[in-house]
Amino acid sequence: MSVYVPRDSSARSVGADEVADALLGLGVEVVRTGSRGMFWLEPFVEVDTPSGRVGYGPVTEADVPGLLAAGMPDGGAHPLRVGVVDDIPWLARQNRITFARMGVIDPLSPDDYLAHGGLAGLRRALSLRPEEVVEEVTESGLRGRGGAGFPAGIKWRTVLGCDGPLKFVCANADEGDSGTFADRMMLEGDPFALIEGMTIAAHAVGATEGYVYIRSEYPDAVATFRTAIDLAASRGWLGPGILGSDLNFALHVRVGAGAYICGEETSMLESLEGKRGMVRAKPPIPAIEGLFGKPTVVNNVLTLATVPAILSSGAAAYRKLGLERSRGTQVFQLGGNVSRGGIVETAFGLTLGELVHDYGGGTRSGRPVRAVQVGGPLGAYVPTSQFGLPLEYESFAAAGAMLGHGGVVVFDDTVDMAAQARFAFEFCAEESCGKCTPCRVGAVRGVEVIDRIRTGEDREKNLVLLEDLCVLMTDGSLCAMGGLTPMPVRSALTHFPTDFDPRPVQPV
Ligand code: NAI
Ligand code: SF4
Repeated sequence: MSVYVPRDSSARSVGADEVADALLGLGVEVVRTGSRGMFWLEPFVEVDTPSGRVGYGPVTEADVPGLLAAGMPDGGAHPLRVGVVDDIPWLARQNRITFARMGVIDPLSPDDYLAHGGLAGLRRALSLRPEEVVEEVTESGLRGRGGAGFPAGIKWRTVLGCDGPLKFVCANADEGDSGTFADRMMLEGDPFALIEGMTIAAHAVGATEGYVYIRSEYPDAVATFRTAIDLAASRGWLGPGILGSDLNFALHVRVGAGAYICGEETSMLESLEGKRGMVRAKPPIPAIEGLFGKPTVVNNVLTLATVPAILSSGAAAYRKLGLERSRGTQVFQLGGNVSRGGIVETAFGLTLGELVHDYGGGTRSGRPVRAVQVGGPLGAYVPTSQFGLPLEYESFAAAGAMLGHGGVVVFDDTVDMAAQARFAFEFCAEESCGKCTPCRVGAVRGVEVIDRIRTGEDREKNLVLLEDLCVLMTDGSLCAMGGLTPMPVRSALTHFPTDFDPRPVQPV
């Protein structure tokens, strides 16, 4: 009987390898999986039982002998036993589509992948004409999960409509937003899903080559994904004649060098071409002139990894979930000062309050929640008075916020929102590519203006200056880095104005 231990970085960071070694040392057969994304239970150990997989967590190396003595491999009783995993309310209430296999399969077992629905989407796609695949993706309502939410099918249609023998599919895995980790989990926990999604995209738009651009801070993801590509190629899932069709698609990994801006699609393309990661002016959009000037699909990891499920179950099934123009599910990444952090994949429309309280269980510190930053470091700080906001693109945009890549970071009532606003400018000054003046200079001036406001120097004048600066950066920046930096600043000022009252500035 198998015992499952995650090999995901998050689980490894809290001792999953040591737990696996302890089990192996006592003669137990161990299967390494991805993580279920219930991080407060990691290292989370699962075993097969007649009622389904039963889980134990968080398990330490020292717990292993006691767990075996209690009959863990047969689901025996123990204080760390949390019951049948699929029945844990936190998981049972989710709609796992993109993350359906996460934590269930051995990510580097092609057979396990096939046994859990793998390649069904690709097989169906190959039975359709390219324009039919594009239509299916368009019909599903799938929007870009990297942050901007552009309809994936429309992007693909643009690439399909371009002439020429050389086109590319690029997966953006430069997951730089603080508080986000879903791309990494996909690369480490279900890499064949991304390979399958990219191969479907290649068939749909007529591409022959693909690149996955992974940030250097994700060494486990790089290693796992490279192995997955080799395994897929050895099975005929990549290369010429994929699954007996005439599709020929080669896939490569490229590793970033630590610049946040390379998550912006045109900087990523520059970096892929071997140049310094600098933003290109759009138009032309990458769909028309992308990698090496050729038509290119650039999608986030989650967008592409969702496509196989859409093709296998049909656009209508996916579209049925969600609301308004936000269809299907979003993989929310719940972190910060929260009791139960991890992955919550649910249909769009859940409220922010439900996510933070019902799933997250409030703050880990036990203090009241004060603010939640949604959408990464460039996203707005949302106060608890707006916890009724449904998590979907348009409602958030109307409230001056954004969903972004689905990162949700919780802060308790000890947070200093003026310091957080200052951090937004500091972050932008650090990560700006320097190409345009509003961002390159504006971010540095922003730090100075906030410091003057906080010390009370010409306060009213500097508040007006801060608003001018925000308008200038929003309207005049070439890309979202400078253009969105005012979002956290303005939200902090709007919802937490007293935090900007004069006070002695702490040295930073
Ligand atoms: P954008 O709105 O300029 O473009 C969105 C996508 O649609 C791009 O791929 C663009 O090339 C494509 N597109 C636009 N018009 C098209 C057309 N007619 N046909 C085909 N494709 C078309 O947004 P951008 O600058 O690409 O992304 C900004 C977002 O990135 C922000 O909203 C932010 O949430 C997110 N972001 C994500 C990060 C992460 O780590 N995932 C980090 C920083 C920002
Ligand atoms: Fe570069 Fe900032 Fe301008 Fe974007 S907004 S192009 S990161 S300087």
